[in-house]
Amino acid sequence: MSAPSHAPQPQAAQPQGARPQAARPLRAHPGRPLRGGARVPGDKSISHRALMFGALAVGETRISGLLEGEDVLATAAAFRAMGAEIARGPDGVWSVAGVGLGGLSEPDDLLDMGNSGTAARLLMGVLAGHPIRCFLSGDSSLRARPMGRVADPLRQMGARIETRSGGRLPLMIEGAEAVLPIEYDLPVASAQVKSAVLLAGLMARGATTVLEPAATRDHSERMLRHFGAELRVEDRPGDLGPAVTLVGEPELRAADVAVPADPSSAAFPLVAALITPGSEVRLPGIGLNPTRTGLFATLKEMGADLTIENERVEGGEPVGDLVARHSALTGVEVPPARAPSMIDEYPILAVAAAFAEGETVMRGVGELRVKESDRIAATEAGLAANGVSTRSGEDWFSVTGKGPDGVPGGGTVETHLDHRIAMSFLCLGLAAQKAAAIDDAAAIATSFPDFEPLMRGLGAEFSGEAIDD
Ligand code: S3P
Repeated sequence: MSAPSHAPQPQAAQPQGARPQAARPLRAHPGRPLRGGARVPGDKSISHRALMFGALAVGETRISGLLEGEDVLATAAAFRAMGAEIARGPDGVWSVAGVGLGGLSEPDDLLDMGNSGTAARLLMGVLAGHPIRCFLSGDSSLRARPMGRVADPLRQMGARIETRSGGRLPLMIEGAEAVLPIEYDLPVASAQVKSAVLLAGLMARGATTVLEPAATRDHSERMLRHFGAELRVEDRPGDLGPAVTLVGEPELRAADVAVPADPSSAAFPLVAALITPGSEVRLPGIGLNPTRTGLFATLKEMGADLTIENERVEGGEPVGDLVARHSALTGVEVPPARAPSMIDEYPILAVAAAFAEGETVMRGVGELRVKESDRIAATEAGLAANGVSTRSGEDWFSVTGKGPDGVPGGGTVETHLDHRIAMSFLCLGLAAQKAAAIDDAAAIATSFPDFEPLMRGLGAEFSGEAIDD
């Protein structure tokens, strides 16, 4: 495919406090095919971890391909406030001068984690091993999300944590002088909780074990090894996830990180191409870690013309180039066991399902209710506003497909500060009968600051207005 390659300029995302208060509606117009190549930004999960492990290591870590979205910049700001030197070079490569394990100093102000659950929860794990007192908060979406799932094991390890009622932010955390190693049976399949316990375990004398109910993304494990930690991952019987054991007090040594492109961000141009007639897009260097690729497997089962080329390993993570073409899709039942490997992709899968023939049923997805928004409710409301029927229960939902040409569109969707709801419904608007709008595009900057120019480079048409119903 000899299509023009679109390389957006990195934008310096704004600090949280500087985000404009006025909502910025955005409308996506149908009728144009998406064609060409586009570089989606670096993986959010890996970017947070690269900054954090770099800050805890001894020496200078260089990070290429770092996601420069608000969530990751919140992590960078927090570690800077605690003494790590973090800077972006003119070539776009970031450098982190680590303070060494246990070397963070008390910040003189609240740490604002913005919209980012990953930043807040992983940071709590780090702080559990530092005998300093920190105060964490975030935006209204993050302040509504459960932190007790992280506070509980960290208290067992010796940290003192005081949350607002309901285990919510803001919270105060004072780390332990001597962290206790524990064996922790995770009550929810959450890579964030697993990672928080392992990060606290770095500072423990002895081995910390996390038992996962189902395998979740293993970027922390891969990167801990990359920085020199000793880690054992043992399979367990049946559908159970592995037992992950970390030996405490390793010497973390600076290590360069090449961040692959984020499969969760790739999902948006990819699904937009699948549902928009005449489309063909190529997305190079996408992370293909098997703990992240559930959406691609599901789309293929739905009949998507989706191919992976040039599979290779870069920076310890499998990557490949994705090519997606407009496809006739059929509804499927998504197995609950697949949920952890595509937990962030259900809103955009639901959009793909709206353009399929037949019903798509997604079970075992109760965790979606505590993401940046209640994503089951937000997705159902967005689909209803655009003429698509859904059904749901506490931990499942289904979408009744309208077929490739049958999605009416014409609605304005409430995004609830949720970047993935925002991008999903802009994708819907590109292929519906009538334009669809979102009430506020600001949240997109948390994970994909260049979403609009990148999609425009592929042929998408957006304009800055809501739709009056
Ligand atoms: C993430 C883990 C997931 C995911 C989030 C990023 C991570 O959350 O939803 O966007 O980087 O560890 P849970 O582990 O809580 O499911």
